[in-house]
Amino acid sequence: MEARSEDIKQAALDALQGEMEADHSLPLRDTANLVFGEGDIHGGVMFVGEAPGMNEDRLRRPFVGRAGQLLDTLIADLGWRREEVYITNIVKRRPPENRDPLPEEIVAYEPYLTRQIDIIDPKLIVTLGRFSMNYFAPKAKITRDHGHPLFADGRRIFPVYHPAAALRSTQMLMVLREDFKKIPKMLAGSPSVDLPPAFPEQRPLF
Ligand code: URA
Repeated sequence: MEARSEDIKQAALDALQGEMEADHSLPLRDTANLVFGEGDIHGGVMFVGEAPGMNEDRLRRPFVGRAGQLLDTLIADLGWRREEVYITNIVKRRPPENRDPLPEEIVAYEPYLTRQIDIIDPKLIVTLGRFSMNYFAPKAKITRDHGHPLFADGRRIFPVYHPAAALRSTQMLMVLREDFKKIPKMLAGSPSVDLPPAFPEQRPLF
């Protein structure tokens, strides 16, 4: 019997996860668990955060702490369930003491994220926070470019603030909520959402 395309996709992701587990060159592997990612690989939307924290490391699942609870609420406000989107991070092991990921850590995990994205082939990537946004658009600035779609690596990217930052600032939370409201239109590829500022090297999507 012919394998269905979703089975092939899932098998490819499982193989990728196995490869990552076996890759002894990856940084942080001596101190943290692999948090590969989870969710619907056919939902069309992929959320990409920065790196796992303490709760994520313990449960080996992305965004399950306080920031994750806020992310769940924001997703629910769209009428979606968390299980209907895919969630992962650029660096897939927790940096010690929750410090920012180092450039060399981002580079080391990059080939795996690239393949994960290629396998899932999402219609829209929502980047959570500055690190994830700059992974796709190095010259972008989160304060200026959040809530504006852009096109990078042949993919539709929608940068928003990190939920952890929104937990620290009511104003940022309001902005994050407003940006989230645009996600369904972004997914549909609607041109009616406001135009992005011009970037020298990134072509605006709409
Ligand atoms: N912050 C992130 O960037 N990723 C997680 O998985 C959790 C918190």
